[in-house]
Amino acid sequence: MSSPRKLFIKTYGCQMNVYDSERMAESLPDYEQVSTPDEADMILLNTCHIREKASEKVFSEVGRFRKLKARNRDLKIAVAGCVAQAHGQEILARSDLVDLVVGPQSYHRLPAMEQAVRAGERTIDTAFPVEDKFDHLKARPRQRCSPSVFLTIQEGCDKFCAFCVVPYTRGAEVSRPAQNVLEEARSLVDRGAREITLLGQNVNAYSGHKHGLAGLIWELDKIEVLKRIRFTTSHPNDMDEALIEAHGACEKLMPYLHLPVQSGSDRILQAMNRKHSRDAYIKLIERIRASRPDILLSGDFIVGFPGETDEDFEDTMYLVRQVHFGQAYSFKYSPRPGTPAAEREQVNRALADERLQRLQALLSEQQRETLQSMVNRTVSVLFERKGRHEGQLVGKSEYLHAVHVKTDSAKIGDIHTARVIAAEPNSLTAVPL
Ligand code: 5AD
Ligand code: SF4
Repeated sequence: MSSPRKLFIKTYGCQMNVYDSERMAESLPDYEQVSTPDEADMILLNTCHIREKASEKVFSEVGRFRKLKARNRDLKIAVAGCVAQAHGQEILARSDLVDLVVGPQSYHRLPAMEQAVRAGERTIDTAFPVEDKFDHLKARPRQRCSPSVFLTIQEGCDKFCAFCVVPYTRGAEVSRPAQNVLEEARSLVDRGAREITLLGQNVNAYSGHKHGLAGLIWELDKIEVLKRIRFTTSHPNDMDEALIEAHGACEKLMPYLHLPVQSGSDRILQAMNRKHSRDAYIKLIERIRASRPDILLSGDFIVGFPGETDEDFEDTMYLVRQVHFGQAYSFKYSPRPGTPAAEREQVNRALADERLQRLQALLSEQQRETLQSMVNRTVSVLFERKGRHEGQLVGKSEYLHAVHVKTDSAKIGDIHTARVIAAEPNSLTAVPL
């Protein structure tokens, strides 16, 4: 038998891209994955379009492979993901190095496209096909997987926030039927998964179960060997009563919630088309905390959105102080072509930078306080990998903190309780109980 071809995948952006990269790799069984581009016969860039000059980055990344292509005539270069979706034609036209362009809804067509490319063609597919790619993707392999895995249950977004490209690159909201999700979950659990993070661009708008995301969570709860359930990313307006209640009632649903708010100014929230006010968000958080008092909250923020004044920014700082986030991501607004806000008058860049620094300082302080508050507490840790030191395992607590534990009895995939003895800037150290 000839030796397998070699595939190098570079994944940018969100967790859904991580999941997609896995599924794409699995759909090309004649390839084995390698960790550097130098030895590859196929390089696949799974791109992200959410912020800053994404397509320029792709061109410069691809340009770096010119030498490799000159050395290995068989080397093929593929571009997938949201930049492929938005700028596929332009990529093929501008770069003779790219052989294959595939959009996120067409990944099931990758094997056929790969064949075409091997036959010397250049090929592109960025359609939103009528068939569901999940019904056509190759069955998942049987070998062991990581104890903590992602599972995409919903794609696309109908919200049309004024800054965001997702509704254009990933299309309208589509939910996978609960039966399909449950089948995939069971097979992941058989392969060693103990924690599943359900993914969707707007995951709490999930409609593949008659009782929505909460209904699906309660179905997953019945899979005995599955110990932990998480979901991301959510929109505040889709946090329904059943889901809030599940946070208190479902033991497997972990006490961590990523709930982006973007801004704390009502004026800006309206200009962003977020369709809720600052107080509505704060009240929602109060209800979630009433259901699950120890929940750790995470958020996304954008500063320097068109029209943002000093006062608007102070409103964001106020919201952050009110809510207290255990974890957060904050970004400077980046105009995305084709989105409504890109046409508006932009905030001075230096001013936006200054605001970003102030917001990040506050969020980092809250993150540090949260980590510090874990010291002396008992956490449960799902071990995912070996640590850097002899006899050390690293896993995640229920609050999604990375925890280092020195243990000789635990193994990867186990969940153990441990007492936190120290907090570092991004992780915890704990001793087994
Ligand atoms: N500029 C800056 N940040 C953005 N995000 C989405 N679009 C933009 C943009 N145009 C951020 C939002 C979102 C996260 C995934 O990325 O905060 O929640
Ligand atoms: Fe983008 Fe999220 Fe708004 Fe949808 S809800 S448009 S994915 S920011």
